[in-house]
Amino acid sequence: MHQLNKNIFITDFKVFGGVIMEHKKGREGFSSGIAAFFATLGSAVGLGNIWKFPYVVGENGGAAFLLIYFICIIFIGLPVMISEFYIGRKTRKNVMGALELLAPKRKWKSIGIISMLASYFIVFFYSSVGGWVYSYVFKAIKGDFYEVTSKSAQDEFVRTIIGPIPPIIWQVVVVTVVSLILALGVKNGIERITKTLMPILFILILICDIKALTLPGVGDSFKFLFKVDFSMLSGSVILMAMGLAFFKLSLGMGCMMTYGSYFTKKDNMMGTAAKVAVSDTIVSLLVGIAVFSAVFSFEMKPSSGPGLLFMTVPMVFSKLPFGTLLLLVFFILASIAATTAMTSMCEVVIAYYSEQRGMSRRKAVLLNAVIILGIGVFATLSADASSLLGKFTIFHMRLFDLFDFISSNILLPLGGILIAIFVGYVIPKEDIKKELSNEGKLKLDKLIDAYYVILRYVTPVLVFVVFLSSLGVMEKLIKLFS
Ligand code: PFF
Repeated sequence: MHQLNKNIFITDFKVFGGVIMEHKKGREGFSSGIAAFFATLGSAVGLGNIWKFPYVVGENGGAAFLLIYFICIIFIGLPVMISEFYIGRKTRKNVMGALELLAPKRKWKSIGIISMLASYFIVFFYSSVGGWVYSYVFKAIKGDFYEVTSKSAQDEFVRTIIGPIPPIIWQVVVVTVVSLILALGVKNGIERITKTLMPILFILILICDIKALTLPGVGDSFKFLFKVDFSMLSGSVILMAMGLAFFKLSLGMGCMMTYGSYFTKKDNMMGTAAKVAVSDTIVSLLVGIAVFSAVFSFEMKPSSGPGLLFMTVPMVFSKLPFGTLLLLVFFILASIAATTAMTSMCEVVIAYYSEQRGMSRRKAVLLNAVIILGIGVFATLSADASSLLGKFTIFHMRLFDLFDFISSNILLPLGGILIAIFVGYVIPKEDIKKELSNEGKLKLDKLIDAYYVILRYVTPVLVFVVFLSSLGVMEKLIKLFS
């Protein structure tokens, strides 16, 4: 493959009547390192920071969990992210095309299949939650959150998820917004939107945090998030931290591979990975401080499950001065996060449909929206426990939770381990060094060596052990040998 200019490549050589004709195909990409950073951060920062992170930290003892989370980021998250960037930018293709080009054996293409399956399973339930978040913006504008009590907060949430029509309509709205962004393309859609929305999101979080600093519960929120309590650590907590690291950094599902394929050859991929991981964690902590300060100010329990976002937050925020305005700010930031993250999930399959299957981008976006809504609607309807679908369970899980479980606990770790093994053992180290250092222009030798050792010997082992324990195999083995 030959680089013509920053973003245009000769991707195919076609033979017509014995003459090799160069088939030029313009492939879009991000225009700069900053654009790549914001897009990648837009993928990482999502509902996970708002809906998952605070409550998972809350339920698992705060800082002890955070410590494990940081270890997972360093030894699993960053190595997998850098490897995905490597595969993407080296080949400048969608996940399937990239693996076809790099992998000598067809079995490695399974990474591409796992990636696309994972992205669909996530987006099926993620778009439901995205719909609820959008509807809360609407409710905040209407003034529905004036003097919310615990009962009215609960009623509001139940009304939001009970179908059949309103939650589906909101899911359609979210998918439509995401599809419009995607239809505009990589540069005019993804790049422009993330470059605009990420700084806005950051300002909105700061507004919430400035307010939080004036609340009596702020001290308790810091204690809760940063006090180290090792007694809380257990196998399942470690598993959860790893699952969260994968989910948070959008790993193991081709997202970072696809975005990596849009990076320019000048970008520092290791630097971008580190900056994204750090910024994403800061965003999560800032959201945590804002939410928990309000929660503790009203002497409520921090670990109130997924209802934290949709019941506790409206209740405690609405009691503050300018609370209804603050709620609006909070749900707008949550909507921005949901939108940019969903955009990245969908780009994985859209790049595949358009590059491998030859569809126009618009057709690919439409097909993707139809698939998401066709199946995601069932996830949405299953969230209501009293409905027919809500009563239908597989392995004691409703469809909504099943999609989450299959993606977060099985597909993402599986994808992650395969990526680590593939890049660590199949790709020659020299190639990796060349790509990560931009042909030697970046002086990253020591860091690349450290990354390579961790990728080969630490990441797969850690993911494997945690993965086995998630399936209950590890516990059985420990019992057998003790
Ligand atoms: N990182 C997103 C979040 O924390 O909400 C979720 C996500 C986005 C997962 C994109 C996977 C993905 F490909």
